[in-house]
Amino acid sequence: MTEHLKMDKVQPRMLDETGQGAIHKPMTRPEGPLKVSGTATYAAEWSLPNMAEGVMVRAAITKGTCEIDESSVKDMPGFVGIYTDRMVRNSAQGTMGTNPVQPEGEVHYLGQPIAVAVAETLEQARDIAQSLAVKYTPADGAKTVMDDSTEFEDDDDPVDMGDLDKAMSEAAFSIDSLYTTKPHNSSAMEPHAAVADWEGDRVILRGSLQMLGFNKNELADSLGIDVSNVRILSPYIGGGFGSKLGISPECVAAAVASKKLGRPVRVVLHRNNVFEMITLRTETRQRMRLACDADGKLTAIGHENWQTNLPGESMAEPVDVATHFLYGGENRRYGQHIARLNRSASGAVRAPGEAVGQLGLENAMDELAEAAGIDPIEFRVRNIPEKSPESGLPYSSNALAQCLQEGAEMFGWSGRKGPKERLEGEWYLGMGVASAARSNILMESRANVTLNPDGTALVQTDMTDIGTGTYSILGQIAAEMLGIDPSKVTVELGDTDLPEASGSGGSWGAASAGSSVFLGAKGIRTKLAERLGCSPEELRLQDGVATGANNRRPLAELMDGPITEEGHIEPGSTSNDFEQAGFGAHFAEVAVNKVTGEVRVRRMLAAMAAGRILNAQTARSQVWGGQIWGIGTALTEEIQHDRRTGHIVNNDLAEYHIPVNLDVPDLDVHFVDERDDQSNPMQIKGIGELGLSGAGAAITNAIYNACGVRVYDYPATPDKIFPHLD
Ligand code: MOS
Repeated sequence: MTEHLKMDKVQPRMLDETGQGAIHKPMTRPEGPLKVSGTATYAAEWSLPNMAEGVMVRAAITKGTCEIDESSVKDMPGFVGIYTDRMVRNSAQGTMGTNPVQPEGEVHYLGQPIAVAVAETLEQARDIAQSLAVKYTPADGAKTVMDDSTEFEDDDDPVDMGDLDKAMSEAAFSIDSLYTTKPHNSSAMEPHAAVADWEGDRVILRGSLQMLGFNKNELADSLGIDVSNVRILSPYIGGGFGSKLGISPECVAAAVASKKLGRPVRVVLHRNNVFEMITLRTETRQRMRLACDADGKLTAIGHENWQTNLPGESMAEPVDVATHFLYGGENRRYGQHIARLNRSASGAVRAPGEAVGQLGLENAMDELAEAAGIDPIEFRVRNIPEKSPESGLPYSSNALAQCLQEGAEMFGWSGRKGPKERLEGEWYLGMGVASAARSNILMESRANVTLNPDGTALVQTDMTDIGTGTYSILGQIAAEMLGIDPSKVTVELGDTDLPEASGSGGSWGAASAGSSVFLGAKGIRTKLAERLGCSPEELRLQDGVATGANNRRPLAELMDGPITEEGHIEPGSTSNDFEQAGFGAHFAEVAVNKVTGEVRVRRMLAAMAAGRILNAQTARSQVWGGQIWGIGTALTEEIQHDRRTGHIVNNDLAEYHIPVNLDVPDLDVHFVDERDDQSNPMQIKGIGELGLSGAGAAITNAIYNACGVRVYDYPATPDKIFPHLD
C-alpha cells in the first residue's frame, strides 16, 4: 500500500510526539566504517571480469571540426577500439532528464570530449588517447573572453518594480558598486567514473551520480534506448556539489563502448578531465545598487548580472535568486545577461545563485550600512520585511533576525571596532557579518519502508548519499516513526530499481526523500494501530513496544510477518502560497597582514535556521562544508582561462586552490530551533547549501573592517589588498 501526501496544508508535528529520541541526535554515519576502511565500493573501484579500460580524448582546438584517424593507434599495445559516436559534450544539467548527443566531429570548446580510447589496461588506453592522430579544421569566430566588448543575450523577463533611478537619486544614502566573481569548479574528491555492462538490451551502469531518477532518463536519451533498459547503481558518492547532477560524458562513452564490445568498460575521468568536461560555475559581474532613507530603511535594490555559457546551454546561474526575498525596498530592478563563449559549459555548482549572488548583495549591504552610519547587523534587521517583498507571499518561517542577533551575541560582535583599530603585531584584525538565505524546495519522492517482527526495519529508495548523511537521516526518520533504535534500520540507496526519489540536489534531499520515508513509516503505524485496536493518534511506539489506549504489546506479538508500505510525497500548494527559505547569519574574524595583504581567517560562526534539524552532527558537517567553501570563494578559488583559447590553465588541485586544513580555523555552528510547518510533514528545511550562501561575504566584510580595503573582485588575493594599504 502507499501512504501518499500532497503537501497542501500544515501537517501535525508528529516528530515532536513520537518520543523514541532518534531525531536530532548527533548520530555518526552507518556507512562511515565502510568508507574509511576502503570497503565501500565507489564507481571506479568496480572491477568486472574481462573489463576493458577507456580514457576520454579531448579536443585540442577551441572551435571547429575534427576527424579522427584510428589507424594511427590501431597497432599500439592493448588497442581495443576508438569510439566517437553518441558523445555528449558536457555533463547534463540537474533535473533535465535529457542529454542530447553532440553531432560527431564538432568542437565547441578546448578540452571537450571527442572520443573514448579503449584498451586492455588503463596505461595502454591513456597512451592510445594521447597518441591518437586528430585532424582539426578550426572555425572562425571563437569567443573566449567576457569583457567590455562582449555581446550579451538579455533577459526575456527582467523585473522592474517602481522607479529605481528616482529612488537612487532621492535617497539619503546610496551605493552603486560592481562586484565580480571568477568561475568555480565543484572539485569533488571522487572524480567522475562509470563502469558499464550490458545484460542483453539492458545497460547496468555503475556511476557517481546525484539524481538517479533523472539520470536514468538522461542516459536512455543519450543512448537512444528505452528507460526500462537502464539500471544505474550509485550507492557511494565522494561528493557531487552539483557536478554529478546530470549524466556526464564518461557514462555515455562507457555504455556505448561496452555495447559495441560486448564486454564491460570502465571510464574514469582524470582530474584535468573533471575541470574541462564537467560543468563549472560561471564567472559573474554584478552591479549592485542600493538606496536607503535617513533611518536606514531600504528604498531601492538593483541587482543586475552578467555571466557566460556555451552556445545552446539552457542553464543560467540564478545570481539574484535570494535578493528577491531577503530584504524590503519598494523600487527593485534585476537583469540577467549571458555571453556565449567557447569555454567549458557553465552549470550548477553548490548553491547555484546564492553562492555568488550573496557575495554581491551582502557586501553591498555592508557598504550601505557604513554609509548610513548604522551597525551592519542592526541595518539588516531593520530591513527584514514582514512579507516577501515582491510576491507579497508570507514567509513559511523566517528567523533571520534571531540568527543575526543570537549569532552576534555568541560571536562577541560588541567587541568589533573600526578599520585599522585592532593591530596585533603586523596583522590588522576585523569582524564581518553576512546574511544567509537559500530557497527551500520539496520534490516528489518515493520510498519503501519495511518493519520486521524482530524490530528491525529496511528503507529502500533510489535516493543518493553524496556525503551529506542521507544514510544516517533516513534511518533516523524510520527509527523515530517506528519506535526502534536507528541501529536496527538498514538503508538501501542508489539503485534505480528501487522506488524513485528526489535525488540529491538543491538541498532538497533530506526534506523530499526524508518525507517519503516518514510517510512509509506512518503507513506502518496505521496498520499497527489497527492491530492494537487504537487510533493512529493514540499509538505510541518505543523501543520495539507498541502502546495503545489501554493495552501494550511488543512488536513481535502484533506482527505475523514483515509489513511494507510505500511512502509518496508530492509538493502541493504550500510550495506556491509561501515564500520558503532557510535563513542564517555568517560571522567571520580575519587577520590582514599590513605588509603583504595576506588574509588569514581566524574564526567563523554560522547561526542557521533551517526548521527541525534531523541530525545535529551531519547538519553541522554540512554547515562546516559551507563555511569552508566560503573561505575558498572569498580568498583562493578561481578558474583561469587562457584568453586566447579558453583553455583552463589551472585544471588541477595544485593550481585551483581549495582550502586545506591550514586555511581553516575554528568553525562554530549554532542552530536556531525552529519548525517550518509549511515545508513538509517533518517541518524541516534544507541545510546543505544554506551554509555556503553568504559565507564568503562575511569574510570580505571582515577584511574591510580589519584594514579599510574593500575588495570588489573575488577572490580577495593579496595583490588586491596590499596596494591599498598605507
Ligand atoms: Mo547542488 S549544486 O543543487 O548539487
